[in-house]
Amino acid sequence: MGATIKNILAQEILSSDGSPTIEATVTLDNGITAVASVPFGISAGVHEAKMILDNDPQRYNGKGMLKSCNNVNNIIAPKLKGSVVTNQKRIDKIMIDLDGTKNKSKLGGNSILAVSLACARAASLAKGLPLYKYIRQYYKIPHKKWILPKPMMVVIEGGKHADQSTDFQEYLMSVLGAPNIREAVRWGEETYQSLKIILNARGLNTNVGNEGAFAPGGIISNEEPLSIIVEAIEKAGFEPGRDIAISLDPATSELYDAKEGTYILKRESAQLSSSQMVGLFKSWLTKYPIISIEDALAEDDWEGWQALYRELGDKVRIVGDDLTVTSKERVKKAIDRQAINAVLIKLNQIGTLTETVETIALGQEHNFWQIVSHRGGGETNDTFLVDLAVAVNAEYIKVGPTRGERTAKYNRLMAIESELKLK
Ligand code: PGA
Ligand code: ZN
Repeated sequence: MGATIKNILAQEILSSDGSPTIEATVTLDNGITAVASVPFGISAGVHEAKMILDNDPQRYNGKGMLKSCNNVNNIIAPKLKGSVVTNQKRIDKIMIDLDGTKNKSKLGGNSILAVSLACARAASLAKGLPLYKYIRQYYKIPHKKWILPKPMMVVIEGGKHADQSTDFQEYLMSVLGAPNIREAVRWGEETYQSLKIILNARGLNTNVGNEGAFAPGGIISNEEPLSIIVEAIEKAGFEPGRDIAISLDPATSELYDAKEGTYILKRESAQLSSSQMVGLFKSWLTKYPIISIEDALAEDDWEGWQALYRELGDKVRIVGDDLTVTSKERVKKAIDRQAINAVLIKLNQIGTLTETVETIALGQEHNFWQIVSHRGGGETNDTFLVDLAVAVNAEYIKVGPTRGERTAKYNRLMAIESELKLK
């Protein structure tokens, strides 16, 4: 028998936007303790696991998480005390059963995930393994070599992540050609600094949004950031498309008018049908070095996604985020319908480590890219997502280039590279 869980304690901590989120501390009978916290999104998909908020207007404008903490302390903890911590599948199953709903709306995906991740971290300590090695070993992930995920940095943001910027939520730089991670991070960060100079020179401000990307007001169109980013890549001394490419996350569920079946681009006073959106992205692919487009269409516009895949699936990675919400069931649906060839992974969209690893495995069976992502609403300093990405040989981690809760992820990734002595 391995180490067992002696105690679990959840409490509120502050997330990066100053409102609370949940942190769980697991203590084992052998004295080991481990802590994990859970972020939340601001443009969360409707199919995600439910995050339980207090809705008490007297505290944090209703955004307190005391109910979620109580669910851990009073309902989950008593059930898990005495469990072997290295049996993660069983731990996650107990919590899924205890919740009993399809979207974890009884106990909260946030409560369940905090415990799931803290247990995994405690188990890795009990086994004396770095977290990424423990995850790979425990889930029998079949990769032999370590191929570290490359940086995908949000460099211009708008949509729900910033006022007065673009309608589309995220313009990203994906580093392709660097010899190793430490260099890849440098390339990305230096290009981000070039971007600042170019934005300033164009008279655009360089205030940052939720994810540490620039959020310039005064941008005239949703296309303008693309040429600016290409210019920044060149200015930093790199070749667009070879060294650093562009990725997009327009997060179009937020722009969709379901009644009309159209996408509303306020900045351009335009209203586009699904097929016009596909046409727009198709035209951009001919002009800019774009390698992936996430949530190009809304979370339930399946026909739009299928049309997009038919049109562009052999030219670009079509990434499901709100569409697939890290759910095996929804990824399976996307496979059956031929809608995607890449999956965005966010642990809190589904709410347990085990389910997340299963979703990744399904995508990898189909050679889909895996992009493990931060959240735009409230992040924390927890770097669990990085260890997960390393464990499964994900292609990218999608994390902003600045703000401490984001750079913590790149620092963890570089530390892992050093630890593995990968050059
Ligand atoms: P979020 O958005 O604010 O919901 O985390 C990030 C994304 O859409 O990728
Ligand atoms: Zn997204």
